[in-house]
Amino acid sequence: MARKRMTEMPHHENEIAQVLIPEEVLQARVAELGAQISADYVGRDVFIVAILKGAFIFLADLIRHLTVPHEIHFMAISSYGGRATQSSGVVRILMDLEASPEGRDVLIVEDIIDSGRTLDYITRNLRTRNPASLRICTLLDKPERREVEIPLDYVGFEIPNEFVVGYGLDFDEHYRNLPYIGVLKPEVTGEET
Ligand code: IMP
Ligand code: MG
Repeated sequence: MARKRMTEMPHHENEIAQVLIPEEVLQARVAELGAQISADYVGRDVFIVAILKGAFIFLADLIRHLTVPHEIHFMAISSYGGRATQSSGVVRILMDLEASPEGRDVLIVEDIIDSGRTLDYITRNLRTRNPASLRICTLLDKPERREVEIPLDYVGFEIPNEFVVGYGLDFDEHYRNLPYIGVLKPEVTGEET
């Protein structure tokens, strides 16, 4: 039934309980982050590592606000198994970098930090490849859920402990196209949180 609703309503607006971060607010903050990163990396060529899939829309908007030279690289990571709204804690690299970050100023671009396990795994993995520097930029941060401490350099928004979708973030691979960050109705996720 969910599939049917989707074809009828491409933006699933009837499945969203609440818009947590409206489009204009998102866009304004992404522009600020881009300006801040540009100021911090003046004179350098940034080696961006975007984490697929969730970061792809954030990345696309963010880099259009960068005024410093940069390369875009991708890693695909899977951290969810079992229940769709809870991290399994098991992290796997599904697709690795195609270029070496050795000696480079690496900036990880991520959609959301929840337990911190994914980012903890990625940063430890990347450090073994000897980057000149390593920083993290995340659009969203759910600090209440943290299990592993991660120093974050650029954070778009701190959000409460709610499962969110849109702007690249998915539930069961859907809802990534929403132009805002929204909370799904509990009957959609099938969870009482
Ligand atoms: P962590 O390893 O628990 O920090 O989980 C990070 C990953 O889980 C993110 O890259 C997302 O793909 C996913 N994730 C965590 N919270 C949410 C959410 O609220 N909505 C959608 N995906 C989420
Ligand atoms: Mg995901």
